Amino acid sequence: MRIVTSVAAMQRLAMEWKRRGVPVGLVPTMGCLHEGHVSLARKARERVGRRGIVVVSIYVNPTQFGPTEDFANYPRDLPRDKKLCRGAGVDVVFVPGDRQMYPAQRGAKFSTYVVEEILSRGMEGASRPTHFRGVATAVAKLFNIVRPDVAVFGAKDFQQAAIVKRLARDLNFPVKIMVAPTVREADGFALSSRNKYLSADERGQAVALWQAMQLARQTVRTSTQPIPASRLSSELKWLIETRPAARVDYIEFFDPETFQPVAKVHQGAQIALAVFVGKTRLIDNARI
Ligand code: PAJ
Repeated sequence: MRIVTSVAAMQRLAMEWKRRGVPVGLVPTMGCLHEGHVSLARKARERVGRRGIVVVSIYVNPTQFGPTEDFANYPRDLPRDKKLCRGAGVDVVFVPGDRQMYPAQRGAKFSTYVVEEILSRGMEGASRPTHFRGVATAVAKLFNIVRPDVAVFGAKDFQQAAIVKRLARDLNFPVKIMVAPTVREADGFALSSRNKYLSADERGQAVALWQAMQLARQTVRTSTQPIPASRLSSELKWLIETRPAARVDYIEFFDPETFQPVAKVHQGAQIALAVFVGKTRLIDNARI
């Protein structure tokens, strides 16, 4: 397994793979890897085959964090990440530093951003106004640097995956975007690098996100008519906030293609929610 830290070296490798016709799969991450990330690397391997190259990028991208968010404290553990990648059969780990990704040249600051303007409006985009601009910019840069044939994202970040698909289409990146299912713990709680922030007690309470989504599914399945979204989200909010450390940021029901909110919840709608458990902000989503 190769570790590449400079953009120029990564681009040289990518050019060489292109020249030789080697298929390349990319899994962009911010590190502190877990089984969710590993499942994406496996999916990339399935797509590119044994002759292909799987690249995992690890970069805690500052432009996608708001000024009061957890950029400085975001968990970092490169030695462990490398071990996990080696175990998962990854070929190249791309770990660029800030000066590689956002260079200031002769005092001139980095100043070009990629902005998706429709799917980014609601939910995470509403709660974190500059977040998707940062994500889209970092992902577009990675596509230009690694030039993957396929890039794999997790359904855990449902809105992000949809924005990346839109970005690839709108800006003509010759890459196939694949979305892999959310990997969960035995009780349904979704794996996330930010789960490290939770105390044991908070972790216990955090299963409320999963339970709320299950209740939504069950309510819709057993009802003879569509349920008003406002009523269902109040019920779920109440259920979640019976846990003392939990506070709901948003619960939304929407069309998974258009991201338009639905007034009545029916099977096939998507639910997404963001919940603070203590100081940690958790997100999850599911198809109803
Ligand atoms: P990060 O949060 O590290 O996630 C990297 C990828 O792993 C994303 O596509 C995310 O959806 C996926 N992922 C996270 N938890 C998962 C789980 N439990 N099951 C399956 N997949 C999971 O998302 C980012 O980083 C960044 O925004 C990035 C795309 C790298 C841009 O900076």
